[in-house]
Amino acid sequence: MTSPKRLHIGLSLAPTWLSGDAWRRADSNVEGLFTSAFAIDLAQRAEAAHLDFVFRPDVSCLPVEMLESGPGFTSLDPTILLAAVAQQTSHIGLVSTVSTTFYPPYVVARQLQSLNWISNGRVGWNIVTALQGHENFGLEQMPDADERYARAAEFTELVHQLWGSFPFEALTIDRANGCYADTTQVRPVNHEGTYLKVKGPLNLPAFPGTRIPLIQAGASESGRDFAASVADLVFAPTPDKEAALELRRDLGRRAERHGRSAQAIRLLPGLSLYLADTREQARAVFMQTHGRMNRARKLASIKEMTGLDLADWPLDRPVTRADLPVVAPDASSRTHSSLLRRLIERESLSIDQLLLRPEVISAAHWQVVGTVDDAFEQIADWAASGAIDGFIAAPGGSVESLNLFLDQLMPRLVQAGLFREGYSGSTFAHHLDEQG
Ligand SMILES: Cc1cc2nc3c(=O)[nH]c(=O)nc-3n(C[C@H](O)[C@H](O)[C@H](O)COP(=O)(O)O)c2cc1C
Repeated sequence: MTSPKRLHIGLSLAPTWLSGDAWRRADSNVEGLFTSAFAIDLAQRAEAAHLDFVFRPDVSCLPVEMLESGPGFTSLDPTILLAAVAQQTSHIGLVSTVSTTFYPPYVVARQLQSLNWISNGRVGWNIVTALQGHENFGLEQMPDADERYARAAEFTELVHQLWGSFPFEALTIDRANGCYADTTQVRPVNHEGTYLKVKGPLNLPAFPGTRIPLIQAGASESGRDFAASVADLVFAPTPDKEAALELRRDLGRRAERHGRSAQAIRLLPGLSLYLADTREQARAVFMQTHGRMNRARKLASIKEMTGLDLADWPLDRPVTRADLPVVAPDASSRTHSSLLRRLIERESLSIDQLLLRPEVISAAHWQVVGTVDDAFEQIADWAASGAIDGFIAAPGGSVESLNLFLDQLMPRLVQAGLFREGYSGSTFAHHLDEQG
C-alpha cells in the first residue's frame, strides 16, 4: 500500500475564531488583539504542531460600519507583526499579505527581504491585487481587476529582479584586502514598464539558500492565469470538493502552459472549522456566531455580487437560478461573485438558508461544522480524491474550536500519515518542497 501524500497546512492568523459574535465569548481574549503576544502565542502553537506556515490576510482600509459588530478588518500591519513573530519562532513559515495595487515595489521588495533575514528564510508573500481601499492611496477609482492583474504581473517580476539585484554572493567581506562587496555583481534593474519605473538595486542582499514562496488567491480567469505563472500556492475559496477538483486541475494545466510543472502550484483552500465535541454543539456554536448577523449588510453584499435584490424577498420563497439577473454586475471579486451565482444556480435555498452559506458568510470557503472526526474524514476524503494539496485552517466560532484544530485534529492527520511528524528543515520553501 502506498502511503498518502502529505498535506501542506497553514493557519490563518486573522482571528477567524472571533468573527461573527464569537469575540463576545468570555474566553475570546479579544482585548489582546493588537498585542504581538496574540499572534506569537498562535504561531508558537502552530509551530509545535509543525504546520507549514502562519498566514496574515490584510486590507488597507477600514469599513467603519463593520466595526460596531466586531473587530472586522482591524489589524496590525502584517509584515511588522510577523517580524515580532519571527523573533519567537524558529521553523514555521511566515506569510505576509502585500498589495501590488497600492504599494511601491521597492518598499515591498525591501520589507519582505528584511523579514526574510529576520526570520532566517521563512517568509512567504501573499500577493493581493486588493478589493478596496484605493482612496487611501490617492487613486480616484479602483483599477479594474484585469488591469490590477497586469500590474501585479509586472510588479512581481520587478520585485524578483530587485531581490536578484544584490545577490548574497556579492558580499565578499575580504578584510585582508579591504573589499566588502564585489560591486560587479550588484546591478541596477533599470525597470521602465507599463505601470512601474524603478532603478534599483535593492539596498540589502538576498537571504541565501532559499526562495520566497508566493501565494495568490483570486480565482477568476485572469487570477488563475497570474497564479499559474508565478505562485507556489493558491489560497482558494472552494466551497465543495468538485470546485476544488476543477480548480486544481485547471491550475495545473495553466502552469504547464507557462512552462512550469503542474505540481509546482499547490492548491490550499481556506477551511472554516466550527469544531466542538458533538455535532449538535458545533451547530449551536455556528448559530451563536452567525445567528445575529447584520441582515441588511449581507443582502447588500449579495446585491453587489449578483445584482439580485432580496430586500423584500418572501421568507418562504426559494431563490433560484431563474431569479438571477442575466448580466452580472461588475463585482470587485469575480471569484466570490461567481461562486455565489454558482450556489444559487445549483440549489434552491430559502433566504434564511442562503444567508448562512459560506458563499455569504465566509468568502465561500470550504466549511466543516462538526466534530474532529467529521473534519478528519472530509480532509482525508478530499486529499484521497486529489482535490487538494493541503489547506489553510480558519477555525471559527470559539477559541475551543481553534484548540480542537491544533490539539486534536492535527495529531489525527499526523497519525493517518497525512501530515509530517516533525520539521526536516527550517525555511518556508523547504517545507513546501519536502516530499511526502
Ligand atoms: C480567498 C481570497 C482571499 C483574498 N484575500 C485578500 C486579502 O487578504 N486582502 C486583499 O486586499 N484582497 C484579498 N483578496 C482579493 C484578491 O487579491 C483579488 O483582488 C480579488 O479576488 C479580485 O480578483 P478576481 O477577479 O480573480 O477574484 C482575496 C481574494 C480571495 C478570492
